Amino acid sequence: MLIEKNVPLQALNSFGIVAKAHQLLRISSAELLQLACQQLDFAAAPPLILGGGCNMVLTGDVKPLVLKMEIMGKRLVEETARYFIVEAGAGEDWHGFVAWTVENGWPGLENLALIPGSVGAAPVQNIGAYGVELQDRFHSLDAVNLQTGEAFTLVAAQCAFGYRDSVFKHATATGLLGKAVITRVRFALPTAWRPEVSYADLSRKYADFLSQIGSSPAENLRRVLLNQEFIDWADLSPEIVPTAQQIMDWVVQIRRAKLPDPKVIGNAGSFFKNPFVSPEQCADIIAREPKVVSYKMADGQIKLAAGWLIDACGWKGRGVGNAGVYDKQALVLVNKGTGTATPASGGEVMTLAKAIQTSVYERFGILLEPEPVVV
Ligand code: EPU
Repeated sequence: MLIEKNVPLQALNSFGIVAKAHQLLRISSAELLQLACQQLDFAAAPPLILGGGCNMVLTGDVKPLVLKMEIMGKRLVEETARYFIVEAGAGEDWHGFVAWTVENGWPGLENLALIPGSVGAAPVQNIGAYGVELQDRFHSLDAVNLQTGEAFTLVAAQCAFGYRDSVFKHATATGLLGKAVITRVRFALPTAWRPEVSYADLSRKYADFLSQIGSSPAENLRRVLLNQEFIDWADLSPEIVPTAQQIMDWVVQIRRAKLPDPKVIGNAGSFFKNPFVSPEQCADIIAREPKVVSYKMADGQIKLAAGWLIDACGWKGRGVGNAGVYDKQALVLVNKGTGTATPASGGEVMTLAKAIQTSVYERFGILLEPEPVVV
């Protein structure tokens, strides 16, 4: 077991913040993780789990042992009448895994293309985009108990998935934060796959595609789509039904246009969660701010677009030191010093985040909750 000392973390976090790990251990197998659990006292000194480092703000050097997850491997586990069961190691790159499933003809993850990060981090925050959440395609995962070194498996119900939430984010008695590490994740991809294109940005891409075909069935479908009516995919001729590969390409185009590439300008994706309010609270806000973007959820709650709230407070393009609000999407905070001698510090990012929280609270009475883990 080789524990590295004073390891620079700038290249290992997508914000590109300068910090060091006092000690770092690369975990390339579940067995190595189990050995580490037996030899080190993780109950007394919980480690920091590092996947792709894409949802993290480092505010200083990391004193606890860093476990860098590097368990690799992708495979088709089983093909049943209803599902392709596929599996990946926690250290695999998420987008690489999605692209591999689509290339192999196992569709279902295409809406989640280009989300930065690793496979092992994906269930922790139940990643979601363009109408699909990880929990919609999840089968099971393997993890290791940090205190006992025992390996165990969880199915969906045991993961307590919610909006950007799971059992791995909670430090309560039943929560697994700091107590377990994910080693492998399995997905159930439906053999009777149907496209999911209802999210506004994706509907627009599909509508453009249909107008290029220009046939009358394509034009009819385009009207159905733009009216947000139900599409019965089974009745449509194949040339007007998008493939998983097309949807993946559209998602990649949308994300590239809206979200900054961390290699060019450091960031951690959406910095705040979209807040939920009651219908009464929402009506109150709409009375004052008629343009607020809101979505009615199945449980009656209303989800507000945090990006809109931040944008409405005039934050786009502004910042603190070298930490800034992305000019094309106010929900994303960026490191304007990426690739220079003066990258933003974690302190600057958090000062900016707090200033945004204060102004959104003062104007709308809503406290935005950060999405990334602050270390
Ligand atoms: N909006 C503005 N101004 C802005 C940003 C957004 O007015 O500066 C408005 C948009 O016009 C739109 C609404 O707010 O009407 C929502 O924006 P968008 O469609 O870009 O999605 P989002 O709610 O900001 C969420 C996820 C993203 C995911 C997209 C697409 C969260 C916190 N974020 O963003 O996830 O890619 O939907 O499904 O739920 C991430 O988690 O890191 C992430 C990027």
